[in-house]
Amino acid sequence: MILLGVNIDHVATLRQARYRDEESIHGGFIEPDPAAMAWLAEEAGADGITMHVREDRRHVQVEDVIRYQEKKKTRLNLETSMSLEMVQLAQEIRPESVCLVPENRKEVTTEGGLDVRGNIERANEVVRELVQNGIPVSMFIDPDPDQLEACAEIGAPWVELHTGSFARAWYDQEKRELELSTLREGMRIGVELGLRVNAGHGINYENMEGAKTLESIYEFNIGHSIISRSIRTGLQESVQKMRSLLNG
Ligand code: PXP
Repeated sequence: MILLGVNIDHVATLRQARYRDEESIHGGFIEPDPAAMAWLAEEAGADGITMHVREDRRHVQVEDVIRYQEKKKTRLNLETSMSLEMVQLAQEIRPESVCLVPENRKEVTTEGGLDVRGNIERANEVVRELVQNGIPVSMFIDPDPDQLEACAEIGAPWVELHTGSFARAWYDQEKRELELSTLREGMRIGVELGLRVNAGHGINYENMEGAKTLESIYEFNIGHSIISRSIRTGLQESVQKMRSLLNG
């Protein structure tokens, strides 16, 4: 069975759109609450929860993560960059795993994979530090054989293959097959190198049909499409409820 990790960042994106500058009422009635949505996702069958605390704190806040952890039922996969500050923070938060991702302040969401080969010294330091402290590390990389080998060389136990190119290619039959075979080859090499291979980014309710054929993937981490669908499926009830409050 392939596991499902639910990425809850976009709940926080929505919360920040309204309450970004209202830390003073943090803990009061501000919505939506990423921790509460993470607990709901767990009740619905999520195998794990992913939260990305960005250096610029644009969506998830450290307090969200801490509050989630107080009543979590599954496990926290914390996404962070490799900066000194974030690696220190990850050790204070003590998640069940860390996923290292590149961060670029101008990007809307995580774009490319991590260049482990090009930053091998820093990647090595970070992986060693976290693994020695009992936190398994996953490297978010493109399905590139050289990146996979670099991850194995530094002793990273897990990788997460970036499925963004596959998701973008989904509506073009030829490109779709090409991207799928690149991912399949990345998965095969990863498994052969002894890595646990996760995958994620851009997976939705349509392209899952192709993604799930990657049978050795341990876990998919999915965020945007799940949060988007929950808005669509929940909107009718929300309008009806407001209507009834308004008119009795
Ligand atoms: N995995 C990683 C490492 C990510 O950075 C993201 C996006 O934040 C995801 C998975 C989930 O991507 P999406 O929101 O497109 O499902």
